[in-house]
Amino acid sequence: MCRLLLLLVLHLNLLDLSSSEDETLVILTLSPAEEDETTRKIGVYYHCPDCAPGDVLRVADEHQIFEKIIGDPRGFLRTDLRVSPESFSDITATILRNGELIYSSPVIDRANWMHDNKSILKYLSLPQLVIPGTHQSGAYDRPETHGIWNLCQDLSIEDQLTLGIRYIDVQPSCKRIEDQCQSFFMEYSLLEMLPMDAVFSEIKGFLNRTNEIVILSLSDFSSEFQSDEDHARFMEFIKHELADDLFSFNTTSHGWSTPLGKIWKAEKRLIISYNYGGPVDPTFGTGVQPFWCNCQRSDDLHVFFADPQKRKNWANRKIPSVDVVELIPGWQTVVPQDSSNSAESSPPFSFKAWTEEFSPKVCEWYHEQWNATSNVVVVDFFETTGVVDLAVHWNKKRGEDTMKKITSA
Ligand SMILES: *[C@@H]1O[C@H](CO)[C@@H](O)[C@H](O)[C@H]1NC(C)=O
Ligand SMILES: *[C@@H]1O[C@H](CO)[C@@H](O)[C@H](O)[C@H]1NC(C)=O
Ligand SMILES: *[C@@H]1O[C@H](CO)[C@@H](O)[C@H](O)[C@H]1NC(C)=O
Ligand SMILES: *[C@@H]1O[C@H](CO)[C@@H](O)[C@H](O)[C@H]1NC(C)=O
Repeated sequence: MCRLLLLLVLHLNLLDLSSSEDETLVILTLSPAEEDETTRKIGVYYHCPDCAPGDVLRVADEHQIFEKIIGDPRGFLRTDLRVSPESFSDITATILRNGELIYSSPVIDRANWMHDNKSILKYLSLPQLVIPGTHQSGAYDRPETHGIWNLCQDLSIEDQLTLGIRYIDVQPSCKRIEDQCQSFFMEYSLLEMLPMDAVFSEIKGFLNRTNEIVILSLSDFSSEFQSDEDHARFMEFIKHELADDLFSFNTTSHGWSTPLGKIWKAEKRLIISYNYGGPVDPTFGTGVQPFWCNCQRSDDLHVFFADPQKRKNWANRKIPSVDVVELIPGWQTVVPQDSSNSAESSPPFSFKAWTEEFSPKVCEWYHEQWNATSNVVVVDFFETTGVVDLAVHWNKKRGEDTMKKITSA
């Protein structure tokens, strides 16, 4: 009982983070994977309020080094370093003052970041964390290559999870057989992508190797789902396929407010958000509706997510709030209008390059502005954004803040 009260008190106070000091943070990013390249470019976001003129930001491994004198106390730099994804973890970022080390970026085991910090995260619920997610998580490989729509991920779901992503976004569809929705698969831009059991087995593979907690969000069901019965059949399929891993919410449990400690205790670590307006099995979490803006410019996206009323609501949330932080290219961008000057025809539109250009905003916004009001942050080509390391950083703060409240209560 006492414990329950304590948790309630925590819930009310948790998002008051005014006590957290403004410390240095440096986060490394990787450009999207390109088919004809084995190495990828490194970017670096830094926020160093105490840096003085002349301090040097250094990004290096055994073989290469990038150094730059810090002018502004915060910013994003594209380095000239390239690494293979396997050796990305050998790269370190440091800040030097008169040759002396004053900051070194933390070493994060991205495959195990939640469980590594179990002692400070166990009292928090999923809506109280910062959770890195991918948008259209299964859109990393397409059966046919034609079409101008671009994939928005470049790693398998299992690799995304291994590198720290904990929110997987899937748009379900099915084939109709004898007027029933059967043979489920994930859809992307009206294309048939992975079969649903392939999505599930990637997630199961990761859960089996780790002690991490994962949210699978099912929303934007295709119009092949035509009735409550179709949904009921899909829910049965999910419960059957994922029986070993599915953490059941039920009518008497705390649902999304369940502390992580309880999920770890149950040894079932997959949570499903089933976003359907009709009857939903209580096993699943109240469906989460991602917020997304059909924006082509980063300024518009910023206005959309910065709306004070929205941020206030999100800070008081009881169920996850999901920011889909991506830009959507317009047709004019994708298909150049002016083809009269064929000699100088512009290179074909690259969604990867376009996303990479925008990506530094994610760290800037979610670190410097919305650090206290963010929950699930969903992106394309997540390694270009640094969102995983940013989430680990802020979860540590939220966790430590909670522990302080517990020990002083
Ligand atoms: C959090 O995890 C990191 C490794 O990712 C570890 O170095 C650190 O000690 C952990 N902190 C706590 C409080 O468990
Ligand atoms: C989990 O991993 C163990 C050993 O690593 C393996 O024997 C088992 O088949 C795996 N289970 C699933 C469901 O993948
Ligand atoms: C519902 O969940 C609670 C808490 O997790 C558990 O104690 C209870 O047994 C569950 N009830 C059913 C009917 O599964
Ligand atoms: C966190 O966000 C608040 C505004 O919401 C800002 O004042 C503060 O400086 C941010 N913290 C960091 C470390 O940037």
